[in-house]
Amino acid sequence: MRKDIRYNNIIDGEEFERAQAAADAAYNLPEDLIDPESFYVTQHWDRYTEENHEVWATLVARRMETLEDQASEVFLNGVRLLGFDQNRVPRLSDVNDKLRPLTGWQSRAVPGYLPAKAFFACLSRREFPTTITIRPKELIDYLPEPDIFHDVFGHVPLHADPVFADFLQTYGKAALHTNDNHHIERLGRLFWFTVEFGLIREHGKLKLYGSGLISSIGESFHALESPFVDRRPFDLDRVCNTPFEIDHYQPILYVLESFEQLRDAMNDYAQRVLDDAGVAA
Ligand SMILES: [Fe+2]
Repeated sequence: MRKDIRYNNIIDGEEFERAQAAADAAYNLPEDLIDPESFYVTQHWDRYTEENHEVWATLVARRMETLEDQASEVFLNGVRLLGFDQNRVPRLSDVNDKLRPLTGWQSRAVPGYLPAKAFFACLSRREFPTTITIRPKELIDYLPEPDIFHDVFGHVPLHADPVFADFLQTYGKAALHTNDNHHIERLGRLFWFTVEFGLIREHGKLKLYGSGLISSIGESFHALESPFVDRRPFDLDRVCNTPFEIDHYQPILYVLESFEQLRDAMNDYAQRVLDDAGVAA
């Protein structure tokens, strides 16, 4: 277990151990015994350092410069609705005060990596497990694991959109209730090619909405402009049958025509998954 103080000083040590142990234990639990409350921790906001705030401010300023052109209007609208303070690491309670009345979604602080079932259990309750540590200055350009910039700036603005909000909860329910490896693999690919690396066409132009693209300057240009990217029209079954690789820029991306298209395709697929699992939708 990583215990780098620079990453973890926002969370109390004891609470960190308890929450991480509960999340790890959820790996083996039947889904009705998984209790997401046990994974959540307190964000001790006053412990962020000036360097932490500076890193947030630098990342937001850098990304917003190009995202006004590159990002989906649904993402940009979410950023406006949530009203992040560009100069301070966000307090999740402030984010949630704005988010809750819009869609009922909340961002909940977690100690770090959650096993898949624990993660899906949170999504099924409209709760987004959120990393609250922030990368150190010397890793500002690249951090392999998620931090609060990736999770809150990259993911949460879409949770303010009612259509995307419904999609993500339906995804969580389907993924929580299946134990079929075939569906689990397909759902992993669906998440990757939409939530993390999705593109959408708006007013005839390609735009970004996947958080992996939103939070990366280099890959966002590559995704939109490189002639070496195979940009395919979104088709749920085709997406679910496409393997992905994690260690370089994505050579294949899928393009939505609307978030309704994603929500409707997910509703159909969730029905199939839950029927196979013998669970009522
Ligand atoms: Fe992500």
